[in-house]
Amino acid sequence: MKIIAIANQKGGVGKTTTSVNLGACLAEKGVRVIVLDMDPQANSTSALDFVPGDQPGVYQSLMGDTPIADLILPTKYENLSLGPCDMDLAGCEIEMAREEDHLIRLRRILSEFRQSDPADYMLIDCPPSLGVLMTSSLAAADELIVPLQCEYFGLEGLSKIVGVHQQIKESGANPDVVLEGIIMTMADSRTNLSSMVINDVREYFPEVTYQTIIPRNIRLGEAPSYGQTIIDYAPSCSGAVAYRALADEFLQRHA
Ligand SMILES: Nc1ncnc2c1ncn2[C@@H]1O[C@H](COP(=O)(O)OP(=O)(O)OP(=O)(O)O)[C@@H](O)[C@H]1O
Ligand SMILES: [Mg+2]
Repeated sequence: MKIIAIANQKGGVGKTTTSVNLGACLAEKGVRVIVLDMDPQANSTSALDFVPGDQPGVYQSLMGDTPIADLILPTKYENLSLGPCDMDLAGCEIEMAREEDHLIRLRRILSEFRQSDPADYMLIDCPPSLGVLMTSSLAAADELIVPLQCEYFGLEGLSKIVGVHQQIKESGANPDVVLEGIIMTMADSRTNLSSMVINDVREYFPEVTYQTIIPRNIRLGEAPSYGQTIIDYAPSCSGAVAYRALADEFLQRHA
């Protein structure tokens, strides 16, 4: 099982939308995926149609009470499972920060878990902060994928997350974590700004930037309120087409 952190300290850039819909599009192709919800907002938990708090979440594993294998739930989609978040995860940052091993605790839990080959990929939906939950997700991951909104401030945030990635590598917590991809999200074909930002990012990160661009598509915003992924809610909309193409590109890159 390859572990991939979907992270950006900037809020609202499409981390959750990408975790859930890339996950769903991979699962549709027969790839086994677990989405691990590491964000106390529990957005990917509700997007996959679970009520946060109705079942034990990742907090219980981080606190050592429940093996992570016992938390993982099948979703209504074949091949797609969820490691749910519970509201307690918010307090977890504070509790964990007090412990000496906070940076590598998730890594330890997941290294044990992955030995039973529970899935092909785990996508970790990270919270929008540079706190313990996000950094320990990076410390646990094989790869980092950064969703980046096609706007000017998106670019500014990029240097920060690239810096954090470097720090995690240098800290010794996870020297091997690779910046695998940057995914441009919420692109608006009617504005020049989107294409300017895309060109800039491609210039600085030519190999890393995904060719597939996720357009701004209202259906992507609506789907979670029905507890559905985009391929269920609006299978032929531009958002669904883009996330399916992204899944293809992802698999090519991971072949
Ligand atoms: N391509 C898109 N087109 C239109 N709306 C989108 C798109 N991607 C995401 N959204 C919407 O934008 C908002 C932010 O997206 P999302 O929740 O995926 O971002 P996030 O990075 O996970 O946010 P947070 O940092 O709060 O966790 C949501 O309301 C989502 O439904
Ligand atoms: Mg989110």
